[in-house]
Amino acid sequence: MSREPSPGLSAAACAGSNIAFVKYWGVRKESSGVGMPLNPSISMTLREAVTTTRVTFRPGGPPERDTLVLNESPGPPEALARVTRVLDEVRRRAGLRAPAYVMSSNNFPTSTGVASSASGFAALALAAAAAAGLPCSPQDLVDLALTGSGSACRSLYGGYVLWDASFGQGAEANPVRQIAAEDYWSLVDLVAVVSREAKKVPSSQGHLLAWTSPFLEARLSQARTAARIVEKAILDRDFETLCQAMEAEALSMHAVMMTSKPALLYWLPETVAVMQKVRSLREQGGVPCAFTIDAGPNVHVIALPEAAPAVRKELEQVPGVEEVLFCTTGGGPRLLEADGPCK
Ligand code: DP6
Repeated sequence: MSREPSPGLSAAACAGSNIAFVKYWGVRKESSGVGMPLNPSISMTLREAVTTTRVTFRPGGPPERDTLVLNESPGPPEALARVTRVLDEVRRRAGLRAPAYVMSSNNFPTSTGVASSASGFAALALAAAAAAGLPCSPQDLVDLALTGSGSACRSLYGGYVLWDASFGQGAEANPVRQIAAEDYWSLVDLVAVVSREAKKVPSSQGHLLAWTSPFLEARLSQARTAARIVEKAILDRDFETLCQAMEAEALSMHAVMMTSKPALLYWLPETVAVMQKVRSLREQGGVPCAFTIDAGPNVHVIALPEAAPAVRKELEQVPGVEEVLFCTTGGGPRLLEADGPCK
């Protein structure tokens, strides 16, 4: 691999991924990509799915451009382009010109339906801002994280996090806030992996297609209501209400995806089999669990901790399920004193 960078302005940080209970899908027409959502979203930060990133700005040293090492291999060009967008904003704020050497690694396999861009860009925003000597509170980092990935702004906090859709409409408005800390309520996200193939249409493209669905308006009004219901369910630790709202919400996002032009159909037969298993566990078996699905075929099954081991066993028996990952509610990003993985 590339040689080690020479010493410069350097910092390392780690951040957990997140799973959305109310999904972000669709950006405002005037925006060219991430950062201007059409609806509020709410997520849970994940403890076991973490990205660790070191950023080193090297004043005066070659090469001229940023370097990205991702999971010990050269980062793909699209990922490097997104990273450079974030670093450009950091350089602009800090009055820096130096290129950066970025080393990033996930402690979870990519292409399992756990969003590495959320944890990756939250860790990058924190490490890059710290390396450049910029303020590093979550509020200071929201715009930086958003430059890389929409869902990353929710990984700037631990526990349960709301990303408000009124971003940009008030000068003082902070679009992201914590609803409750990780120790307020512990839930489990069991990720039923049915495929490891990279998705054909990335979320960044899908967000621009939402407008082409005739169901968008109905979904937006449903998502706004769902956000209020889910926020209250979290504060009340009301799992039953959370389950109903979360499943209906995921299905409504997929209805928009499936009716966009071109249509986005992320599900596989195994996806539906897992959804049906979850429904029957809950409705016939009285087991507290519910599903949600991102832009891919893998199913996130949210369960109460006491039910999670049994639910995991049931999911492992569904034909086509390759693996079930186990994630719990996690804390916010943090700076690392020395190199080494986040604990
Ligand atoms: C379906 O724009 O954050 O997961 O392109 O991977 O960075 P990337 O995704 P992003 O969109 C996330 C879409 C979603 C729902 C959600 O997490 O809210």
